[in-house]
Amino acid sequence: AAAEKGGHDWFMLKEIAEQPQAVADTLLGRLGEDGELVLDEVRLSDQELRDIDKIFVVSCGTSFHAGLIAKYAIEHWTRIPVEVEVASEFRYRDPVLDRSTLVVVISQSGETMDTLMALRHAKEQKARTLAICNVNGSTIPRESDAVLYTHAGPEIAVASTKSFLAQIVACYLVGLFLAQVRGIKYTDEVASIVHELQKLPEAVERVLAQMEPVRELGRSLADADTILFLGRHVGFPVALEGALKLKELAYIHAEGFAAGELKHGPIAVIDQGTPVVVVAPSPRGRSLLHGKVVSNIQEIRARGARTIVIAEEGDEDVVPYADHLIRVPRTPTLLAPVVTTVPLQILACEIADTRGFDVDQPRNLAKSVTVE
Ligand code: G6P
Repeated sequence: AAAEKGGHDWFMLKEIAEQPQAVADTLLGRLGEDGELVLDEVRLSDQELRDIDKIFVVSCGTSFHAGLIAKYAIEHWTRIPVEVEVASEFRYRDPVLDRSTLVVVISQSGETMDTLMALRHAKEQKARTLAICNVNGSTIPRESDAVLYTHAGPEIAVASTKSFLAQIVACYLVGLFLAQVRGIKYTDEVASIVHELQKLPEAVERVLAQMEPVRELGRSLADADTILFLGRHVGFPVALEGALKLKELAYIHAEGFAAGELKHGPIAVIDQGTPVVVVAPSPRGRSLLHGKVVSNIQEIRARGARTIVIAEEGDEDVVPYADHLIRVPRTPTLLAPVVTTVPLQILACEIADTRGFDVDQPRNLAKSVTVE
């Protein structure tokens, strides 16, 4: 069994370590020489893609968090409105769908019943459907108009890791492809993003090389009653994912919040010693956001929080307020989740392991949930 896990204690750790490859393989063959996107597998015609005036992204669990990240990127690059919804809610509220709606369903397994039912509902309403999926030939891609496979390889651990990173990358590809097909002038930003995407495997590799202090931190958090996660912009879905991983694996109460919402409620639960993980935005670019998040860190620390800050290399503003600082390489803002998620996976894994739980097979959970 140790050999199966490639020398790691858990499949989850093996799969976390495989993330640079998962990201590289999902990009492979899809970025042409001149920054053109080549998505031959997307079987919708250019005309169908040009007619789209609204996008829904529908999925569950970790795949839902990939959808939340997709919204930021796709709206920004294509200017098409994007709504994101958990699959179990989607078809029960009579969403407005028609031929010019694209419904993107994201599913690692391709078999999640909630997502499959949402897909079928979208098709009944004549929407165009695109699946982002990791398992070849599974039900969801078979029933979708178009498919973009993530090439993360088989994922054994119940908690999703490498397929999540691959899903985020696939969502970027969908956004950039739509921008391309719709003739949105390739701005410098979009062109540079295509270039930056190719640097992600190495960036993830660098994060993985620096995880020993995060493991140590995880061991020191094993007795926490609650851990909060804060983020803003694309850091918000990352915070949600960090909290989900902790609940799934370590059975510790955890919540993710949009950092701006702190003052509207969550700050009240902060007590002496409450661990709070903050996913700080890059100080470059959207610098207003960065300053606001730095103030948030300052505020929660003044109320007793033990602050754990994930920040870009070179971000010195967070240093005075971070009890623990986790560095990630510089990436363009929209691509940051690919690197900022990784320490949160390691943290949850280490806390669960320290508490003596089965990281690969958490209680009450299944890899693929085939009931509604
Ligand atoms: C289950 C798994 C999660 C996963 C979710 C969606 O709840 O335990 O890890 O994120 O299903 O699965 P899917 O295969 O549709 O991505």
